[in-house]
Amino acid sequence: MPIAHERLLPLALPQPPDAGAEFRRALAGRRFGTVLADPPWQFTNRTGKVAPEHRRLSRYSTMGVEEICGLPVAEVAAELSHLYLWVPNALLPWGLRVLGAWGYEYKTNIVWHKVRKDGGPDGRGVGFYFRNVTELLLFGVRGKHARTLPPGRSQVNFLATRKREHSRKPDEQYAIIESCSPGPRLELFSRGVREGWTGWGDQAEESYAPSWKTYRHTSAAERRTAAAALAEAD
Ligand SMILES: C[S@@+](CC[C@H](N)C(=O)[O-])C[C@H]1O[C@@H](n2cnc3c(N)ncnc32)[C@H](O)[C@@H]1O
Repeated sequence: MPIAHERLLPLALPQPPDAGAEFRRALAGRRFGTVLADPPWQFTNRTGKVAPEHRRLSRYSTMGVEEICGLPVAEVAAELSHLYLWVPNALLPWGLRVLGAWGYEYKTNIVWHKVRKDGGPDGRGVGFYFRNVTELLLFGVRGKHARTLPPGRSQVNFLATRKREHSRKPDEQYAIIESCSPGPRLELFSRGVREGWTGWGDQAEESYAPSWKTYRHTSAAERRTAAAALAEAD
């Protein structure tokens, strides 16, 4: 007797959540003057120690460039809007592709120089051709006359800060963006919550804390130091 085809298939395969549907469910009907995004880029080398989804280190899941392009960001962007998009140096062409797919026009970028405590370049980064001590924050605009706000004219396109845990971006970016770009503000793929911002991402909850140890200088360590200073002041 032939076996029914369905009988050979597992009954309930876990399906990855549809990021686009999840995005619409959380943000539909909203409009943002500024969008900041730090996507979980999927590198070609997914087993190397820097890869976010490295099996043993298991930091976070990643998305292919088409899936990132497919997020309906244009649906939540105000008529006049700014986009800040983090992209690793090796994936610059993908960054520009995503920026265009989301409805923005590339204008310029901000360079993050990763430095050591003594201010010298932090050479712990990786790179196939050169050792990376910088990362790019692409800047794009949407709409007519989408200039930066007045402080933008004197804001240099460079920041130098120490690295914290894997993939963590410098908090200094928020002050720059808040002074140069209009609200309301949305952060995509955010971790934790931030006052004055709407956050979206699968780690965008208040209780978020990094569960891995990359460097001693992490945002969790910073929080502990700040709490200790407050307790001492009491
Ligand atoms: C590069 S990290 C963002 C780091 C963050 N900007 C910071 O400074 O800490 C990418 C984030 O995207 C999240 N992520 C991965 N896949 C996702 C998905 N399908 N939907 C929403 N968030 C996702 C990851 O869990 C991770 O928090």
